[in-house]
Amino acid sequence: MAPSPFTKPPGPVALIVLDGVGLAPSSPYNAWAVAATPTLDALTAGELPTGVPTTAGAAVLTTTLAASGRAVGLREPGDAGNSEVGHVTLGAGRVLRQAAAAIDDGLAGGRFREGDVWRWLMEAVGEQQQGGAGGGEGGEGAPPAAEAGTAGPDDQDGTAGGDGEEGGQRPPATLHLLGLLSDGGVHAVMDHVWTLLDAAVADGVRRIRLHVLTDGRDVGERTALGFLDQLDAKLAAIRDGADGNVDVAVASGGGRMAVTMDRYGTDWGVVAAGWHAHVAGDTETVAAFPSAAAAVKAAYKDGLNDQHIPAFVVVDPDGRPVGRMADGDAVVLWNYRGDRAVEMARALDTPAGEEWPHFDRRHVPRVRFAGMTVYDEEEGVPDAALVSPVAVDQPVGEVVAAAGLTRLCVAESKKFGHLTYFFNGHRGTPFDPSVEEYVKVDSLPGRDEDHPAMATEAVVERVLDAVQGRDGRVPDLLCINFANGDMCGHTGVMAAAVAGMETLDAALARLLSAVVGAGGVAVVTADHGNVEQMAELDEDSGVVAGDTPGGWAPLTAHTTAAVPLWVVGAPVGGMAIDGGARWDAGTPGGDPTCDGPGIANVSAAVLHLLGLESPDEYLPSVLVEAKKEA
Ligand code: 3PG
Ligand code: CO
Repeated sequence: MAPSPFTKPPGPVALIVLDGVGLAPSSPYNAWAVAATPTLDALTAGELPTGVPTTAGAAVLTTTLAASGRAVGLREPGDAGNSEVGHVTLGAGRVLRQAAAAIDDGLAGGRFREGDVWRWLMEAVGEQQQGGAGGGEGGEGAPPAAEAGTAGPDDQDGTAGGDGEEGGQRPPATLHLLGLLSDGGVHAVMDHVWTLLDAAVADGVRRIRLHVLTDGRDVGERTALGFLDQLDAKLAAIRDGADGNVDVAVASGGGRMAVTMDRYGTDWGVVAAGWHAHVAGDTETVAAFPSAAAAVKAAYKDGLNDQHIPAFVVVDPDGRPVGRMADGDAVVLWNYRGDRAVEMARALDTPAGEEWPHFDRRHVPRVRFAGMTVYDEEEGVPDAALVSPVAVDQPVGEVVAAAGLTRLCVAESKKFGHLTYFFNGHRGTPFDPSVEEYVKVDSLPGRDEDHPAMATEAVVERVLDAVQGRDGRVPDLLCINFANGDMCGHTGVMAAAVAGMETLDAALARLLSAVVGAGGVAVVTADHGNVEQMAELDEDSGVVAGDTPGGWAPLTAHTTAAVPLWVVGAPVGGMAIDGGARWDAGTPGGDPTCDGPGIANVSAAVLHLLGLESPDEYLPSVLVEAKKEA
């Protein structure tokens, strides 16, 4: 354990995450630079913002932190950061191999094919099954133990139905692959899909259906047709390689923000839309198209971008859906990030007849379902997963609770699990409810470009209540996430991003005044960049020309930007930024991409500010005792 060099301040320690607010030079497409942000400007200059009490010598310490690529455990140095890895890293105090990379390891060399979960899926849809009557019931058995150390589910119970496509013949047992078709690397990557397809074909699956969600949020906003082309080429190669023995096609899909990928229970209607498209192939309620590309092109004509494409079902020339899910089928969800995968996983994992309050699933086919990994580790959802999740021991929240200190977490719904499930190392509930309170402030329904202020005001009010002691005892640690930078950045709408930053700036001013005024210290940082770059930039030539009024193509995705760190309050007088802190500390041979501290170096600082020791696994704190003048 590393001892704290500091004495706990009389007021709270506040960890304030400005979601998606990275550092970039001033430009017309940097929404932070364009917005009026007097609070952030003062902090950047190392000065106390107007209104923050200067009593007792309050001051600001500042530095920049790496928040992308290897600094947060991603696959490649150039991978943009994201909220999952950012919050996991801020909570873990070390650089962990994150899901995308861990899945690579789990799939490498076909290792997963030997695992119980894959074999259990193949029992239903692989070689031995296809030799029989076709479309068997999938058996009653559950896999003894999953690759992920989780048990597989019993086959789901359901009423007969879901067949009848393709001329009334029951098709052979089918493997359905569902997920985000993108190389964004936040929720999914394409080469995992190729691996699953190749493994299925090698294991004798003869009928495969894909249900594809278009992205436009972690990648360019109209890139879906390119990804569909790549998929088509892969499917054509499979058909050719199998001499026509493998029937593989895209069966349904839709844009990720409209279909399937809701998170934190913000809008279950999104999951319902996905269910009716992917599972039921319901052409009564879901638009039918001859191909996924036709659905995408129709949405573009309506002015929609990839993230918002409505649900669609692919139909044959007679108008029949090409790939409903039926009894005896197997389903794999290839997304690896839990927040936007767990709701559909629950829907597929909950048998007919069990309580399901979220929407009317109508018919629930008996399928064998596995996730790429476990999406909710506390509740074990789904029952079966192909690759084990990465364990995180002793995250900040656990250390604080074990010390008996109190903690309040406040975020709006759209970011709530980031600050709880991810920050807590995949745990959504308090370590010790007697000292922790997690408050979810309702997000506003609809699109963020229509209300860029989001629910920030309500978040601030809730925190101010706590700082002013209205809960009885002022919490020792406050964890707050402000969503505006990221969520408005994802819209690609500059005006929304600017308005979001102005809301954020005003909110931060109020919080800093309250925390510093109460004798506390605020640690303000971000999980990754987004809003500071609203235009697609070409690495070589600079700005990419586009057809927006500004003449550039909107960037909806995150960036590789470094993020700010500001430590604000009276206690910082005795503190200094450790100029030698590095995120690769302890990495044998170091990491050539490291040139200073990363967000992983913040966690020990938070514990030390609370007067607590940091666990040995943590990276050195970016905050050290100031050297006394000789
Ligand atoms: C999303 O899920 O909205 C984006 O893919 C990533 O955004 P986040 O990492 O900031 O949540
Ligand atoms: Co984001």
